[in-house]
Amino acid sequence: MSTKRISLTRYLVEQQRDHGHIPSQLRLLLEVVARACKSISQAVNKGDLGGVLGSASSENVQGEVQKQLDIIANEVLIEANEWGGHLAAMASEEMEGIYVVPNRYPQGEYLLLFDPLDGSSNIDVNVSIGTIFSVLRMPEDDRGVDVGDFLQAGHRQVAAGYCVYGPQTTLVLTVGDGVAMFTLDREQGSFVLTRENVQIPEDTKEFAINMSNMRHWDAPVKRYVDECLAGKEGPRGKDFNMRWIASMVADVHRILTRGGIFMYPWDKREPEKPGKLRLMYEANPMGWLVEQAGGAATNGRQRILDIQPTRLHERVSVILGSKNEVERVTRYHLED
Ligand code: AHG
Ligand code: MN
Ligand code: MN
Repeated sequence: MSTKRISLTRYLVEQQRDHGHIPSQLRLLLEVVARACKSISQAVNKGDLGGVLGSASSENVQGEVQKQLDIIANEVLIEANEWGGHLAAMASEEMEGIYVVPNRYPQGEYLLLFDPLDGSSNIDVNVSIGTIFSVLRMPEDDRGVDVGDFLQAGHRQVAAGYCVYGPQTTLVLTVGDGVAMFTLDREQGSFVLTRENVQIPEDTKEFAINMSNMRHWDAPVKRYVDECLAGKEGPRGKDFNMRWIASMVADVHRILTRGGIFMYPWDKREPEKPGKLRLMYEANPMGWLVEQAGGAATNGRQRILDIQPTRLHERVSVILGSKNEVERVTRYHLED
């Protein structure tokens, strides 16, 4: 990469001008989301000094105890995005219903979905966490926004990304033209392009899954992991390594950086639920990023981005990352 520093703003302007990928309202939206992430990053960094750690005394719609930072991050994203005129409505892991842009502000043509703080169990222990977002366009000729407008398959996303708050704060973005990474320069207060055309290697020796759930898995997942664990002497003929950070953002960031496979499959603990992770603001944006980087994302049987959502907080089984490994696990499911 040249020594010339390209800010997120410049990247977006050039994408708009040279490639026609980004209408100006979408550019504004992405700038606003990035600004909100900067401010969440600051709150995360302060930690105990800012009094932001620990649990709040509330539960979200999924019945999970909310952390203070879940609520703060949700508010930061809403306040940053509601007045700009680029959005019609927002939806979040932390809100049961959709948040329609109030009448006092102009309404735009986009819909924003987010997981304001991903990896909540890692907040208090100073391990990487993040924000995940997905952008859809309002269906055409629609009068008045409602939850049905959000229920679009992932392949209809117009932008998706995440920001990981780790040793560095990194914003990762796709507008359908590959994946770019921007590192936050704290002194300058701006995101600087640090990687373009991110590519996930097709093969890997690293898998990520919460092994404590092994006894609850379905046969195809068990078969795949057993074969990895068998190492050189087993059917795969090579040794595998394992990582599980318990922040999807951090696990996906590692996979975009050096490859790997991530699985949070359906399991027998709650058989009526199709998985733990949420389709619209976790699996769809991450699935699209991974595909844009040459990887694959399925629920074991079907491409994640082709799933037609029926509910805002719908859950899904997730297998994503290095293409050949994802295809293998998917084949094991289809053969089952
Ligand atoms: P969130 O903090 O937004 O609820 O998401 C946590 C998710 C995901 O980030 C992670 O991969 C997974 O939950 C970890 O779950 P386990 O604790 O069951 O391993
Ligand atoms: Mn999450
Ligand atoms: Mn969350």
